[in-house]
Amino acid sequence: MTPATSPLCVALDGTDRHWIESMAATLVHSAGWLKVGLEAFTAHGPDLVRRVVEVGPRVFLDLKLHDIPNTVRRAAANCAALGAQMFNVHASGGSAMLRAAVEGAREGAEGPPPKVIAVTVLTSLDADGLAELGMDWQPEELVVHWARMARDCGLDGVVASAREAAAIRRACGPDFLIVTPGIRPAWAATDDQRRIVTPAEAVERGADILVVGRPITRADDPAAAAAGVLEEIAGRN
Ligand code: C5P
Repeated sequence: MTPATSPLCVALDGTDRHWIESMAATLVHSAGWLKVGLEAFTAHGPDLVRRVVEVGPRVFLDLKLHDIPNTVRRAAANCAALGAQMFNVHASGGSAMLRAAVEGAREGAEGPPPKVIAVTVLTSLDADGLAELGMDWQPEELVVHWARMARDCGLDGVVASAREAAAIRRACGPDFLIVTPGIRPAWAATDDQRRIVTPAEAVERGADILVVGRPITRADDPAAAAAGVLEEIAGRN
């Protein structure tokens, strides 16, 4: 499996810039994607994103944009201009905001625009967590509803738990990208994730890109842990 075909996206969640850059370099041969999220971005900003884009392979800028359409459009253009090959917005921002994100991605990109994907329901939220927010939905119903909306607004895919991947695939078709966090190999701790599945199960259920953070980045040997995840996926074939 080469980085161009690897479905593994490693979340570089940390604050120490040296640690983030050396982790990127360590994982460059096994990960298809490296994810820069809120923790790293709020510490080191666009400069870090440009650096990780240079190291490669592809960068998923996970800032989960959520604001009025005009602001999201301009922020989306900035994400594209940084060279990220994928970024995300919250589906709960509504259809005008989702369309604005797609427009901004096209406006800001020098070459092909980055993929724009929508966060559906955070994998740390279960039905009780949704009820607390005043949303009387089962997670899967809401995820599928938001995934259809994202597809209809021209987004490339969604971030969702692998538990909902099959339902999203049925609703949104074969070309819709399904990016799944909440992945835990059998040997890893669950941390604060609730709706978790193993890497092999995630692929089985239709996930295209698997986001894995702590089980790899906090392992004693991150490269070996990444290889272990890829082996677990390959073992299903
Ligand atoms: O360390 P762990 O594997 O739990 O990291 C999962 C990553 O995926 C984190 O960076 C987290 O922000 C992100 N994420 C998530 N659930 C979502 C969207 C993103 O866990 N719905």
